[in-house]
Amino acid sequence: MRGVNSLTALFFSSMILPASLGSSQASRRDAQVVLSGTTDGVTGGQERYDGESVWRVKLGDHDRARREEVVQMFESLGGDIWHTTSDTIDVRLDSTSSQLLMDNQLHATTTIEPFIPDLQSLIDSINVDLESTSTSFKKKNNNRNKNKQDPFNLTTIDTPFHDTYHSVEDLYKFGDKLVETFDGKDGVVVTSFEIGETFEGKKLRGWSAKLQSNSSGSAMSTSGRTRTDRGGGGVTDGIEREFVVQSGQHGREWVGPSSAFYFLHSLILAATSDPSSEAALLLRSFTFTVVPLINPDGYTYSREHSRLWRKNRQQVGSKSCLGIDLNSNWGYKWRYPKAVSPCSESYPGKEAFEAYETKAMGYYLGNGTERGTKIRAFVDLHSYGQLFMFPFAHSCEDYPSDAEMLMEAGLGVAKAMRTKQGEGYEAGQACDLTYRAPGDAIDFAYGVTDIRWSYSAELRDTGTYGFMLPPSLIRPTADEITAGLMYLAKFIYVAEIAN
Ligand SMILES: *[C@@H]1O[C@H](CO)[C@@H](O)[C@H](O)[C@H]1NC(C)=O
Ligand SMILES: *[C@@H]1O[C@H](CO)[C@@H](O)[C@H](O)[C@H]1NC(C)=O
Ligand SMILES: *[C@@H]1O[C@H](CO)[C@@H](O)[C@H](O)[C@H]1NC(C)=O
Ligand SMILES: [Zn+2]
Repeated sequence: MRGVNSLTALFFSSMILPASLGSSQASRRDAQVVLSGTTDGVTGGQERYDGESVWRVKLGDHDRARREEVVQMFESLGGDIWHTTSDTIDVRLDSTSSQLLMDNQLHATTTIEPFIPDLQSLIDSINVDLESTSTSFKKKNNNRNKNKQDPFNLTTIDTPFHDTYHSVEDLYKFGDKLVETFDGKDGVVVTSFEIGETFEGKKLRGWSAKLQSNSSGSAMSTSGRTRTDRGGGGVTDGIEREFVVQSGQHGREWVGPSSAFYFLHSLILAATSDPSSEAALLLRSFTFTVVPLINPDGYTYSREHSRLWRKNRQQVGSKSCLGIDLNSNWGYKWRYPKAVSPCSESYPGKEAFEAYETKAMGYYLGNGTERGTKIRAFVDLHSYGQLFMFPFAHSCEDYPSDAEMLMEAGLGVAKAMRTKQGEGYEAGQACDLTYRAPGDAIDFAYGVTDIRWSYSAELRDTGTYGFMLPPSLIRPTADEITAGLMYLAKFIYVAEIAN
């Protein structure tokens, strides 16, 4: 095993540093308007990231071996890997490591640039947006009986709820409002359920929606003939098919939970406003389940203490560090990595399903039959990177037997997302598009349960804001993934139901 120093040397010796990078002022990107750092309220008492930067390393095309080597090198340096593609790695480094990068000069095959040169400034500027949107939401909330708009008025997709990020309590309240507003209306059935508890004792909650099949509107007709459903909602041919969307495995990826609820909300709204719509067809054919926040402990910690917190908040037997990376803890081809510290953001735990959250959701995914449903699809929402990926993540050589179908549907999803706002999304196998990572949720869903359509999505953006996606981009992002998920459901409907 090579030591950190020789690894560092190996890496730096093969790196090209553009000359302009000598100054930390260089290449500050336009989008990063730096505002003064005074914030309070939602952001009070937060960890600061002064002197830290996010670097983008550019590798040779599809050089997987090298990508993996560089990722491991950064991890051993205590770097926080934010995002990888087939030829880039985004990594957050503290000022010492950043300085090391800048001091080391020129050679060979790699370029590296300071993508977000001043992380704290970016966080501060987004906090200003966050504060104003969240204050405006709360104001509406307080004034709601004085002829102001009710921010939880779910009769319209324009509800102010979708304009900002929320606490766990408000997210769960939104879910309860979904039930209150729509359950029993126009044949819609909306239910909530609990799948377990987190390490800190927070509830892990899910919401399901379906349409009673005897509600108004005639049934589907994609293959030129009309058919009539038998039985209750989400049931066709006597099978209740479930389409599961999970998000929020990583605390700092706030746009996932917002998007998951936006998806369910807009699906229900579209189905109830037009019983002959595509949304209504899909809600009659599938039970849509959303578990919007599988890591509420980590999410809350990211909101209240450390914006960039990724893991859960479980004690793992280390004095100095805690937390398990949920998306490295699922039980399929799981393996304990040779050297990874509990302090790393990607610490996978000592064994698969050690995390309360993955265990609870693992049971949920494995127990479809006991609940009387057949889970057909599982989509796990993350940010950032604009990708739509199918298994496997644990190995770039291991392709699912359904790979061709998964790729075909994935390409269609990416196109549907692109068509919405013109933002590009890429589809492919998870390991190929990012890097080899065992313990991924989509590997478990595909490899262990009988879910065929297993995907993970990296939502916006491609790195300008990264995890600090401004509240103004929640709607466009959520709108895109809604189009993508509807495309996927339709694809499955055509492939498996309307034959
Ligand atoms: C909710 O919004 C709808 C549509 O904008 C409006 O007609 C209705 O009065 C609102 N209801 C409440 C309780 O605010
Ligand atoms: C569906 O049919 C049942 C039994 O006829 C009826 O009680 C129920 O109200 C109907 N539901 C809808 C949404 O029409
Ligand atoms: C179903 O859930 C129970 C716990 O609720 C668990 O013991 C069992 O292993 C689960 N089954 C599957 C197939 O995951
Ligand atoms: Zn993630």
